[in-house]
Amino acid sequence: MKARLGINIDHVATLRQARGESYPSVVDAARVSLENGADQITIHLREDRRHIQDTDVPAVKLMTERYGKPLNLELACSEEILNLAADVSPDWVCIVPEKREERTTEGGLDLLNKDVFSAVKGACDFLRKNNPSGKISLFVESDPEILQKCIDCRVNAVEIHTGDYARDHLNGEPIELYLQNYLRGYQIIKKAGMGYHAGHGLTDKSLESLVAQGIFEEYNIGHWIICESVFHGLGAVVSKCQTILKTKKV
Ligand code: PXP
Repeated sequence: MKARLGINIDHVATLRQARGESYPSVVDAARVSLENGADQITIHLREDRRHIQDTDVPAVKLMTERYGKPLNLELACSEEILNLAADVSPDWVCIVPEKREERTTEGGLDLLNKDVFSAVKGACDFLRKNNPSGKISLFVESDPEILQKCIDCRVNAVEIHTGDYARDHLNGEPIELYLQNYLRGYQIIKKAGMGYHAGHGLTDKSLESLVAQGIFEEYNIGHWIICESVFHGLGAVVSKCQTILKTKKV
């Protein structure tokens, strides 16, 4: 099986919000991604609404339904956002940590912190009750203790935070330790019968090294894809990523 490619289109909304105009359209970004082989569309409804807006969520969901592909909604443990998510019934919800002052999500959920763990567990219970057909993933570091906490939350998958790996890859630093760590995480998660996803900061080159390892069954990529689209067009960049994923089965 080829790994799935989730296209995160938040940064199309970032461009739109920078000028407060109605363009570029995130719905069109979803359509072009899906036309060019995206397996999923990912959006993050942040509490500060810095990019994706409330009305974008059902509009993008309609587009994914038209192509028969999943919508993956990233959100923090906020009652308000969880209620919005329940109204839209995304196929996947990925729970992420969120700080207002951060430029982007800066790391995985600190599930070793009791308060964080209980908030995440509560959010999972809420979603199972109010979005029963949806699946849940938790955005975490590949750390055995944290992965055990994910198993305790009875979620469908984990998404491993690859931001530090991707930055070191970009800077030509060694990546071996990251790969070993991801393999250890994979063994824990597979034994529990859960999905193993990756995301954050990935570029074509850092994606290639992970795909060669053949352990992640889904990648969610946004910033690099939207940046490359300035030069090559969104459809071409999505196709290029799919070509990389086709080089190795999971
Ligand atoms: N996965 C998660 C959980 C994220 O929070 C993000 C960023 O919104 C991504 C993937 C995509 O990261 P990037 O835009 O750096 O490719």
